[in-house]
Amino acid sequence: MITYNESERIFKLDTPNTSYIFGIDDKFGYLMHYYYGRKLRNAKDNIRYLSRLYDGDVLPEVNTKDKNSFLDFAPFEYSTGGIGDYRSHALEILLENGTTAAELKYLSHRITKGKSVHEGLPGTFAKEGEAENLEVTLTDPEIGLTVELFYAVFADTDCIVRSAKIYNEGQTPIYLTRVMSTTLNLDNKDYNLLTLHGSWARERHKEFRKIGHGYQGVSSRRGESGHQEHPFMAITDRNLTETTGEVYGFNFIYSGNFTAEVSLDQFNLIHAEMGINPYNFKWKLEPGDSFTAPEAVMTYSFNGLGDMTRSFHSLYRNHLIRSPFLHMKRPILINNWEATYFDFDTDKLLAIAKEAASVGIEMLVMDDGWFGNRYDDNRALGDWIVNEEKIKGGLKFLVDEVNKLGLKFGIWMEPEMISPDSDLYRAHPDWAIQIPGRNPGLSRNQLVLDITRPEVWEHTWNSIKTILESANIEYLKWDMNRQLAELYSAGLPADRQGELYHRYVLALYRMQEKLVETFPNLLIENCSGGGARFDPGMLYYSPQIWTSDDTDAIERLSIQEGTAMIYPLSTMGAHVSDCPNHAVGRVTPFKTRGHVALAGTFGYELDITKIPVEERAQIPFQVAQYHKYNDLVREGNYYRLASFSDNGEYDAWMVVSQDGTEALVTYVDVFKHPNVKSRRLLLQGLDASKEYKDAESGKIYGGDTLMYAGYPLPGTWGDFKSTLIHLELC
Ligand code: GLA
Repeated sequence: MITYNESERIFKLDTPNTSYIFGIDDKFGYLMHYYYGRKLRNAKDNIRYLSRLYDGDVLPEVNTKDKNSFLDFAPFEYSTGGIGDYRSHALEILLENGTTAAELKYLSHRITKGKSVHEGLPGTFAKEGEAENLEVTLTDPEIGLTVELFYAVFADTDCIVRSAKIYNEGQTPIYLTRVMSTTLNLDNKDYNLLTLHGSWARERHKEFRKIGHGYQGVSSRRGESGHQEHPFMAITDRNLTETTGEVYGFNFIYSGNFTAEVSLDQFNLIHAEMGINPYNFKWKLEPGDSFTAPEAVMTYSFNGLGDMTRSFHSLYRNHLIRSPFLHMKRPILINNWEATYFDFDTDKLLAIAKEAASVGIEMLVMDDGWFGNRYDDNRALGDWIVNEEKIKGGLKFLVDEVNKLGLKFGIWMEPEMISPDSDLYRAHPDWAIQIPGRNPGLSRNQLVLDITRPEVWEHTWNSIKTILESANIEYLKWDMNRQLAELYSAGLPADRQGELYHRYVLALYRMQEKLVETFPNLLIENCSGGGARFDPGMLYYSPQIWTSDDTDAIERLSIQEGTAMIYPLSTMGAHVSDCPNHAVGRVTPFKTRGHVALAGTFGYELDITKIPVEERAQIPFQVAQYHKYNDLVREGNYYRLASFSDNGEYDAWMVVSQDGTEALVTYVDVFKHPNVKSRRLLLQGLDASKEYKDAESGKIYGGDTLMYAGYPLPGTWGDFKSTLIHLELC
């Protein structure tokens, strides 16, 4: 899969359908990118012309000088600042003498079996025979700077994973001010840029724009990946469809500040980069120290957006998500947040649990409000002591009672936070991230704990551990409800304050790692005010993440479409909630709410003791549907068929089992229009040469008929109606 052509000095990374090629320039020893795209065979051509380095007057044999003109077009595999490449750089540094130039040249490389692991960071992994690894070492000996570039190629997916490690091998400190994890140079073919944008309660909506000259992209400066923009971008054909056109997809395995950007230069060349956001980033490398950039994933598809999605899904299922729950049906939960908010006690929770048990729900999750004097969201974060006024009899009593009803028990915590009105803050005001002498800005009336400090980290970890060990708790919802601001850590000297954003994420990862190690059988659902930290970094620790605080079935169509564009359906926390919906006031059929939630982990978030009897009566049927279809939804291949966010009328997606024997189509007819003929839905992923039986009607259809002529969708009456179509191979 990875080859090195000794005479041409070319590296070729082959995935099942793609090739990624770069090599060493003969004159200067620069690492130059040549090609990324459809798989190339190993022809005897000399592909090095693709660098264009030999076109112009840059090289000495043409201009008869040492170096001339600028390297402003050179497709550097890992570019640096200060040497005449005026585009953005993969690496920017600052030396003690105030200079910023660095010039990296090839030193050595190593091709190994397997996948390298970067301690302390989430990342992809592979079993024996599943991956190959290339490490290329570059160096600037004049300043003692060495860079190792890592590339991993997997046998079973069209993804390449990259990262970089920077070493200071000099005598004086080097400050890193910009470190990208991946870069890519491409000829522009009138490409578009696809990104995901959003806000609280409307995360990950897709957006296309034409790539224009200058810089464009998405980023976060919030200390987490964020609701607003997503650590993902794709460079796509102008006429991209689900099944046709080129796509270069990028995703960052990181949960903090990121940048994902492309620029179009004066020569109509695209330069793409993804890495930690350089905003407020200044990392001091003492002589002998190193810094590892998080992993970034690249994937290329020439068969449309659908293939990109399935490549990401396959990488994350097989090589990123470690949880033992990944391939398991998750317990159907009922969460009391939208049911009670802060107004609950043992009796109320047991009443919900009792009713839930009677309809087949399998777990009660007690959300925010069970600790300290947490009667509203203005106080008590950090005081992880059970409030026995509410939880009468204590936590163990409640959990035991819930277990006696046949339900598992799950709990909510927001470990990284501290309320100014808390015993913890009164005892340790300096544990919060804030600037001494400045009145800190609050968000949801809370501050962020400085978990980069060992004593704060230990205390926080012990609080989590004590609660989890105090009763039979089988699920944890780990929340994070504000972003970082007014950065200052009492644990860092002035010249290391620029490390705080990243150190914070590393401390979070250490704690999640400890959690996974200490409680291997705990089901973890990460969350951040809904979906503000729904990223591959967090998926390394938890198999599912709460997708959005917006549980409205129609809003969820766009949110889940954007999320599932990258992440498997099995990772998306999705619940049936009460109507009128608490985020938008919309009333949708209970059945539709169920169908949309079935595309994720599935559960309920409502007061089952209060909802209308007709709705309650549907729950056992929904529960049965979940048990019937979850293996298929969780493990199957996912295809987008129609996008409500594109057509404004209806949405549809389907999953096909890995063995191709069954498929489930979900169709949501959002807005009904009068006097229209029946709609035919073109399915995907079936075997054109086989027949399928529609389980509901018993009718037989050819796979080719369903994919090329379309499935005849049933007419619906009224808005927000939905249908499930289950197809079985005959
Ligand atoms: C966040 C979560 C919600 C809920 C509340 C509790 O907003 O996304 O699901 O847990 O916090 O305060």
